[in-house]
Amino acid sequence: MTTPDYAEKIPNNVALAEDRRLQRALESWQPNFLTWWETMGPALPTQDVYLRTAVNVGREGWARFGHVPMRDYRWGIFLAEPDPDRRIAFGRHKGEPAWQQVPGEYRAELRRLIVIQGDTEPASVEQQRNLGATAPSLYDLRNLFQVNVEEGRHLWAMVYLLHAHFGREGREEAEELLHRNSGSADAPRILGAFNEETPDWLSFFMFTYFTDRDGKYQLGTLKESAFDPLSRTCEFMLKEEAHHMFVGTTGVDRVVERTAQVMVEKDTDDVAALGVIPLPVIQKYLNFHYSVSLDLFGGETSTNVANYYTAGLKGRWMEERRKDDHLLDSDAISVDALVDGEIGLTEVSALTGLNTDLRREYIADCAGGVKRWNRILEGAGLPHRLALPHPAFNRKVGAFAGIEASPAGELLSAAEWDQRKGQWLPTDTDKTFVRSLMRPVYERGKIAAWLAPPRNGINGKPFDYDYVHLA
Ligand SMILES: [Fe+2]
Ligand SMILES: [Fe+2]
Repeated sequence: MTTPDYAEKIPNNVALAEDRRLQRALESWQPNFLTWWETMGPALPTQDVYLRTAVNVGREGWARFGHVPMRDYRWGIFLAEPDPDRRIAFGRHKGEPAWQQVPGEYRAELRRLIVIQGDTEPASVEQQRNLGATAPSLYDLRNLFQVNVEEGRHLWAMVYLLHAHFGREGREEAEELLHRNSGSADAPRILGAFNEETPDWLSFFMFTYFTDRDGKYQLGTLKESAFDPLSRTCEFMLKEEAHHMFVGTTGVDRVVERTAQVMVEKDTDDVAALGVIPLPVIQKYLNFHYSVSLDLFGGETSTNVANYYTAGLKGRWMEERRKDDHLLDSDAISVDALVDGEIGLTEVSALTGLNTDLRREYIADCAGGVKRWNRILEGAGLPHRLALPHPAFNRKVGAFAGIEASPAGELLSAAEWDQRKGQWLPTDTDKTFVRSLMRPVYERGKIAAWLAPPRNGINGKPFDYDYVHLA
């Protein structure tokens, strides 16, 4: 059951060959996926790339590395090992066996959750399509492509569930996932942050740090789902997701490290003319990506999400480690709110406040990155520090959507905001400056001047390895 079959057109560990109808349906979606990959995926022509391909789900090694032409990447369907005794951990069905099939009463909601998750996966590939043209090194170029092929596989993961469990409607949704495109005027991606462009590598590192991390938390809630195939799919996706966040974390590390180095060497904060990114610009990019990622968690309160929880469709982050009744009928939580027009808190039932619970887990995790980057500044002997802006800053969703606030959390009039936002969010001048640094470096072992080289290469290979062969 769990040994993947690579002889098949679609590698999988779900015994696809035993279900001819499903196999045929997925094989007829496959060419559409490849057409999408060719037209909306990485634009830079390559011969081959040193990539990790998932080959198993077990603990004893799950991936193999090698140079492969990206078009021949083996996008497959992999679910984590089943637990035959798995029981539902929360909600009204707590203690009952996990579902192997979709219960009729939750069909529409489960399909919706899978479509929303599925929509983000190809969106990020589209957003990152042109970054190859300005890669700062072959190592970074390889990491970009690794993230891209895995997001493509995550699309496969969701499409498998739609085809296998949701009939004709599922197949139609799978088509729509290829039809919508990031930033498209008539058929945009579902969530706002996935329609923003990723125009430069600082944005890419911030995106993989903050926005892929939102993905980690969403997948974490779906991993708790009573619908076992969804749970097992998400569990395996989380394994791949860890590398995407590594790319973001270490990417920002390396930018901060290089900037700090030049600041110390030249004894100045004013480093733009020296070809590195000034700390205030890094802070503005951080502010932007963090605030749009907070929006991805939805409103502070949500009856839909309360219903998903009670039904067992979507749990909390680390549900089974929580020390409570896993029903939350009588618990309360205080959530961000406008109280008499001021930024404050209000108490609501724990069930309706579940989005807030998840967002707080996420915020605590994000603080870890900032701490790490500040350690780099401290280590360089600099007094400067980066910070996460207040949750009310630059929000388009939730309690603070209708107001403006500074990164410190002071309420601002619309006029003040317009006047000052350029101090806090990337301006056209900042973006143009960052883009001016984005010149490709495709020579083995070389790196652009605006970031430090990584400490280690990939899979034990050195930094100067030939990670990518360009066409
Ligand atoms: Fe993903
Ligand atoms: Fe990701």
